[in-house]
Amino acid sequence: MKKILILLCVAAISLMGVEQKVDGEKVFDKACASCHIKMITAEETKKVFKTLKAPPMVEVSGQLKKNIKIVEDIDDEIHRAVVIAFIKDYVVYPHLDKSMCQAMALERFDLMPSLKGKLSEEELNAVAAWVYDFYVGKKF
Ligand code: HEC
Repeated sequence: MKKILILLCVAAISLMGVEQKVDGEKVFDKACASCHIKMITAEETKKVFKTLKAPPMVEVSGQLKKNIKIVEDIDDEIHRAVVIAFIKDYVVYPHLDKSMCQAMALERFDLMPSLKGKLSEEELNAVAAWVYDFYVGKKF
């Protein structure tokens, strides 16, 4: 886990200050929304759980923000960059060892299929940043 975090930090720093030209939400609608519901409450999720193909993105975003901790009082901007780097990496290289899904969720859902080669670097950056930013202040 430590190694992954160090790699993510390097990736995160290289991402900081990258200009966004692509609309992350459009990338989400195109490449992610077929599996991940964009907005839903925890209550609603219980009702439709059996029909879900993947955890709702509002939940994924919140979980990652909570679970990715490097040091106690990490700078917000660096935390954001590390979470974004994680998402970007996960979309291309999903792996059980990296997944922060709860064991129950992983039993219910298969591992996410890799989207390697399906999105450009700009699209990956944009969608990962969108997954972070869109859900700020939104509750699951
Ligand atoms: C074919 C269905 C499918 C598509 C398309 C898909 N995902 Fe997933 N995704 C899953 C499933 C299933 C899981 C839960 C299992 C896992 O963690 O691998 C998941 C989990 C995740 C996780 C959580 C990893 C964790 O550790 O909690 C992230 C982040 C994620 N997806 C991002 C995306 C993004 C961003 C896109 C679009 C660019 C996308 N996914 C497209 C099926 C999909």
